[in-house]
Amino acid sequence: MKSPAVLFATAEMAPWVKTGGLGDVAGALPAALRQAGTDIRVLLPNYPALRAAFPQAAVLAELPALAPGLPAARLLGAESGGLPLLLLDCPALYDRPGNPYLDPAGHDWADNGLRFGLLSRVAALLGQPASPLAWRPDVVHANDWQTALAPAFLHYQGGAASVVTVHNIAFQGCFERPLLAALGLPDAAWRFDGVEYHGQLSFLKAGLQLATLISTVSPTYAREIQDEHFGYALAPLLRHRAGQLRGILNGVDTAQWNPADDPALAAPYAASRLAAKRINKAALQREMGLHEAVDRPLFGVVSRLTHQKGLDLLLTVADGLPHLPAQLAVLGSGDRAMEAGYRALAERHPGQIAVRIGFDEGLAHRIEAGADSFVMPSRFEPCGLNQMYSLRYGTPPVVRATGGLADTVVDVSPDSLAERTACGFVLDADTPHALWLALERAAAAWRDRRLWQRIQQNGMRRDFSWEHAARAYQALYREATARS
Ligand code: ADP
Ligand code: GLC
Repeated sequence: MKSPAVLFATAEMAPWVKTGGLGDVAGALPAALRQAGTDIRVLLPNYPALRAAFPQAAVLAELPALAPGLPAARLLGAESGGLPLLLLDCPALYDRPGNPYLDPAGHDWADNGLRFGLLSRVAALLGQPASPLAWRPDVVHANDWQTALAPAFLHYQGGAASVVTVHNIAFQGCFERPLLAALGLPDAAWRFDGVEYHGQLSFLKAGLQLATLISTVSPTYAREIQDEHFGYALAPLLRHRAGQLRGILNGVDTAQWNPADDPALAAPYAASRLAAKRINKAALQREMGLHEAVDRPLFGVVSRLTHQKGLDLLLTVADGLPHLPAQLAVLGSGDRAMEAGYRALAERHPGQIAVRIGFDEGLAHRIEAGADSFVMPSRFEPCGLNQMYSLRYGTPPVVRATGGLADTVVDVSPDSLAERTACGFVLDADTPHALWLALERAAAAWRDRRLWQRIQQNGMRRDFSWEHAARAYQALYREATARS
């Protein structure tokens, strides 16, 4: 059977707009699907970074105001490495610098409901007979809350089958009721089995309720979100729809993240040329202002600084690291109190702990390469990409057994060493003590050169390319079209 045509709708896409893993996934999965033969186009807002990247983008269609609260817009066409992009051009809503969701003060833009309401509405339109394009998808694939209202429009107005992928259930996109009419959704949608959620209009709940099929980014997370503890109050709905919920593990962009050919690094290396990794460690120590010590492991962190990532746990125990002894290099931004906590930590341990607050793609690569071990003690982690980058970079990760971390990292034990699968250090509780024990285990293993090399090589051998995931998504699209 021919693979269904797909519109991939997203609010982020690497390398142009990225606040986290959604950007990476949108930057790689559609391209992998196209490689695998899927007729796929990506819809995303024409943010300043895209205007700059595609100044010649052609106008494909003028879109009239599609609902009482929505402005008119245009659809521009561009291409990236053969992949067609549909840029939703509406300067009043998207021509804003910086983070796609936050104003310069760090608050959600007040009109995010309209900004992503329009994106969802247009995603649905392209899957409807009224579409201004001749090309028509069989499936509209929404990602996270920002596009999750598209399945609701398709449900109430008719059109293509829909899939919604949950990258993070903690962000749901909840707005006041008047947005319903402003976006042109019918009053009849205001139901517990429609878009209404505890008196608000919830984009994500709407998608989970009304999409033909639901997926999330790892098999373990697909199970976890049916549980109250992880489901952020959507667990009952997900249990109700368990028959339509699938878990597909993300891949990683193996061209972007390849230690043998990474322009950000001081020295390329590979599983068979691990010695050169030391050059990257020394370079990172210099770049971050750490002492160029060779007698202690260097732990690395690249992350949003949030409760989700468990980095408050690391903050609680990190004063012990210089005594272990070990060093720590942190790159991250997010929660203001946690940022301050990490800055103060670095000030207490000059030369041993270094912290950069901000977003820096190049430094992220150099930490993956220069650190000995990567720390990711997430409380929940739908998939997580950094642990996979770490495995590829011979930087065994310390992770918590949750979501995609549980699905990708095999704890070092006598059994897993014998099976040659041991590739990291897994803690099973989200407590500072459990994290500390795992850090101690990692530091001890690092001191045993041969053991450490085995662990590194086990991780570097793993295949995290997108081809597997692309095939699983193709099957999901076929199932969605068959069901609708
Ligand atoms: P999440 O999407 O929950 O933040 P992931 O592990 O899936 O977590 O993806 C995070 C992505 O964002 C990775 O590519 C990571 O390298 C990147 N990233 C996070 N914080 C920073 C930062 N401060 N600087 C550069 N890259 C970052
Ligand atoms: C989310 C999750 C992360 C996942 C990413 C891409 O941001 O927090 O775990 O890897 O989406 O799916």
